[in-house]
Amino acid sequence: MFGPGRLPLGLDKRPRLCYFHVIRAMRSDDEEQGIERFGVSMGGMLLRQFDRIIRAKGYRSRSEAIRDIVRSYLVGEEWARGRSRVVGTVTIVYDHETRELGEALTHLQHEHAGAVICSTHVHLDRHNCLEVVVLKGRPADVQAIADRLISTRGVKHGQLVCTTTGARI
Ligand code: NI
Repeated sequence: MFGPGRLPLGLDKRPRLCYFHVIRAMRSDDEEQGIERFGVSMGGMLLRQFDRIIRAKGYRSRSEAIRDIVRSYLVGEEWARGRSRVVGTVTIVYDHETRELGEALTHLQHEHAGAVICSTHVHLDRHNCLEVVVLKGRPADVQAIADRLISTRGVKHGQLVCTTTGARI
């Protein structure tokens, strides 16, 4: 039988309910949120590695970790398919004293004003600046603008983080 100590992770917030009531409560919650359950089979070694990593990352359940992995996969597919609009953030670090660099970066952002949502500039020290540019558009366009920003002469480091509008996941 299921004692309170045997309840699945995440249900310990309802210790006064017996298992039957917990299951009923879970079902009504799930119906409201459209949650479906499925079984996953995998080798023991793979599962132990998975558990170790998600525990270290702070996940409270395998389900939450698997949901994040699936969302990440879907975002990757959005970028690969190239049809829907996506969001990306480009982070660049550069020396603002590099000749014409500031103007070149500003010019580039004005040229693509339709895709640039906003940018933030931080003065890291006497010479170095960090800029984060938030872009929205088709994956190929966001990637191209990011590539141009990052490859501008004088940019020391740059990276594009590919994410989503969140509308499809
Ligand atoms: Ni600066």
